[in-house]
Amino acid sequence: MSEPTPSYTGPQRVFSGVQPTGALHLGNYLGALKKFVALQHTHDCIFCVVDLHAITVPQDPKMLASNTRKITAAFLAAGLDPERAVLFVQSAVRAHSELAWIFNCSARMGWLERMTQFKDKAGQDKERASVGLFAYPVLQAADILAYKATHVPVGEDQKQHLELSRDIAERFNRDYDAPGFFPLPDPLIKGPGARVMSLKDGTKKMSKSDPSDLSRINLEDDADTIARKIKKARTDPEPLPESIDGLKGRDGAANLVGIYAALAGTTDQAVLDEYAGKGFGIFKPALAELTVNAITPIGEELARLNADPGHIDKVLADGAKRARAIADPIIEDVRRTIGFWGS
Ligand code: TYM
Repeated sequence: MSEPTPSYTGPQRVFSGVQPTGALHLGNYLGALKKFVALQHTHDCIFCVVDLHAITVPQDPKMLASNTRKITAAFLAAGLDPERAVLFVQSAVRAHSELAWIFNCSARMGWLERMTQFKDKAGQDKERASVGLFAYPVLQAADILAYKATHVPVGEDQKQHLELSRDIAERFNRDYDAPGFFPLPDPLIKGPGARVMSLKDGTKKMSKSDPSDLSRINLEDDADTIARKIKKARTDPEPLPESIDGLKGRDGAANLVGIYAALAGTTDQAVLDEYAGKGFGIFKPALAELTVNAITPIGEELARLNADPGHIDKVLADGAKRARAIADPIIEDVRRTIGFWGS
């Protein structure tokens, strides 16, 4: 990992978040959860279910609470150890909201206006989008920097938001004449799985909000469903090529090769070395087997954990306590740096 910023001398820390807005899919697993689980063995890690982000669009209160528990269960089912990593809910730690407001005053309108995710989510009618949806990436910067996190594992769709977090940290440090106060967080994006695409359209990312369930593999899908979805995935009649160059313009094929590589913990080229010249009649069943073996145990554990909300709540209460213990002194320091009364 590279140095987060030359003048920041604090400890290295990993932070990332997942929204509680529906069941998680293979993209969330390969782009985020799988990386989190690996990082917990090498780094101080803090992971968060970001319910403050979820309410940037309307949510049903009962569903929000239940989705929050479900995402927590997915973290655990994927292999996160809550003794090792801190796992908590964003709204349980007030530091996020407080720092987000402070950062609203450092971030510039022009920076936020360039955010493509706002443009995508607000669509044609941006006059009616919530202010929260517009300011969303500022809250994301606050999430990371409330813990002075130096490394942020995410999928590729979060790259622009991470760049904004760096800009905000830099601006705060400059505005308050506090060089090195916040680290400039480094995104951890590289590797296969950073951008898993829809099974129905290899040019669109796999997404919770796609109306077609055939476009994604959910962590809760059973073996038959997974195999059926992979069989129906849109590809082309050509056999697999020998080199990555040969996947150009073959988005569906490239996506399946990428998924295979991410699940097997290898590279796209290594997958092609094994399957070059073979058609999808051979490759798809192999991919289905690999996916079923990786995902169904998670789905089964998820079902078990979903039946035990008391356990989930205990994990979250403990996580919130530990998260506050890290964030509160940092926020106190921020308040002093700004000149807020009483600090
Ligand atoms: P969210 O909840 O949309 O997604 C959670 C994580 O899954 C990754 N991801 C994907 N990776 C690969 N291929 C895909 N098709 C795919 N779809 C989703 C996302 O990149 C993300 O890592 N804004 C964030 C949550 C957040 C956050 C943070 C992340 C809030 N605060 C602070 C990092 C640090 C989001 O909406 O992720």
